[in-house]
Amino acid sequence: MDDLLNRILQNFSIAGGELEIGGVSSSLLARDFGTPFFAYDREVLESKWKLLRRTFPPEFGICYSVKANPTRAFIQFFLTKGCGLEIASSGEFFQAIDAGCSPVDILFAGPGKSVSDLELVLSKNIGEIHAESFVEIERIGDISKKLGVTANVAIRVNPNQHAQGGAMRMGGKPTQFGIDEELLDRALETIANTPHVEFRGIHLFSGTQILDHMVLLNQYKKGFELARSIANQLQCPLQTVDFGGGLGIPYFANDHALDMRALQNGLLDLMAQVRSDKNFEGTRFLIEPGRYLVGDAGVYIARVIDIKVSRNKKFVVIDGGMNHHLAASGNLGQVIKRNFPVAVLTKFNQPAEEIVNIVGPLCTPLDTIARDIRIPVPQIGDLVGVFQSGAYGRTSSPMSFLSHCSPPEVLIENGTPRLIRRRGTIDDLFIDMR
Ligand SMILES: Cc1ncc(COP(=O)(O)O)c(C=O)c1O
Repeated sequence: MDDLLNRILQNFSIAGGELEIGGVSSSLLARDFGTPFFAYDREVLESKWKLLRRTFPPEFGICYSVKANPTRAFIQFFLTKGCGLEIASSGEFFQAIDAGCSPVDILFAGPGKSVSDLELVLSKNIGEIHAESFVEIERIGDISKKLGVTANVAIRVNPNQHAQGGAMRMGGKPTQFGIDEELLDRALETIANTPHVEFRGIHLFSGTQILDHMVLLNQYKKGFELARSIANQLQCPLQTVDFGGGLGIPYFANDHALDMRALQNGLLDLMAQVRSDKNFEGTRFLIEPGRYLVGDAGVYIARVIDIKVSRNKKFVVIDGGMNHHLAASGNLGQVIKRNFPVAVLTKFNQPAEEIVNIVGPLCTPLDTIARDIRIPVPQIGDLVGVFQSGAYGRTSSPMSFLSHCSPPEVLIENGTPRLIRRRGTIDDLFIDMR
């Protein structure tokens, strides 16, 4: 078994050669909920939360980024921990409210906020909107005026240097995200001249899936520098500085987990320079992680329904694939397709003797979940698990493609599985046609 899979398995237990999630065997879960499905372990959520909370100084508030996994049970989990939420659409706003979040604890980021998005959130007194363009500042001003409210707005800054090491970079280059740092003065002036818009601070977010603590620390340093210089200019500390999300988790053979101790030490050094600085008096620091908090907690589980050999290559066909888990198929932004940590969940006590491709049921070669993977001799009925599937799994997959039913989600808490999202039905496929 490879080293990464071994490390990941420490989050779970194995009994009788079979993976248990939250103490419940995978075959019992598969029997009770059917395959394919996503299973999440609450204990893993707890431990990731504790580690993150410990790593960041108390001055930092944490907003869970709903896009990573918008399941109500997850949102509620983070609300009970005292988190706010970061959203990027009206749909996520409704999901946040439905989970019991107060609108003032919600930050709204993301390009292309429509008039109706903004009308919705401003009429409900949202905590803060992160402006991504000049048009958006103007639009927020117009709508706030019409509604007779004042909008709290932070500027999302596209910094003039990017965070190296993020798999998907969102800053430091021409991008649709944020306002270029070079235009910051103009943006501040525009906000100052826009009635009904109050300037709150800045937001930086340059990339996701960052595994190098130095990349994150450089990004935070940059955020502090920018905030200090704006505070100096305005002669008033900013109310919020949002350093974004981006903390990564290991997916591939050579990935190392983020060094949280080194991150913590670096943050302590940065805070030592900030705590005594009048430019930060009363400033609220925020991060908005998604993947780091929920990614490790999830396993996508599918059943082997066919095994065939084509020209000496063995294909193991499972009953779900890229339609439910695009990222695992390597088609969600990966330049080089590498295998997620994948295992036959029912055969941990058997030697890995065969090299196979594990593929989903879609009519496209893109639907390959593992390439040339060594596993125990597979049989129809075996359960295959894709680890590290708690973030950007179901939620960022093309679930309508080939019209299979959407997979359910199961959360295992204190040894008890709970269905937190039902399986889609055939009727759901017709919802917009009747
Ligand atoms: C604005 C914003 N905040 C937070 C996140 C969460 O990022 P991550 O899951 O890498 O922590 C994203 C992800 O794309 C984002 O766009």
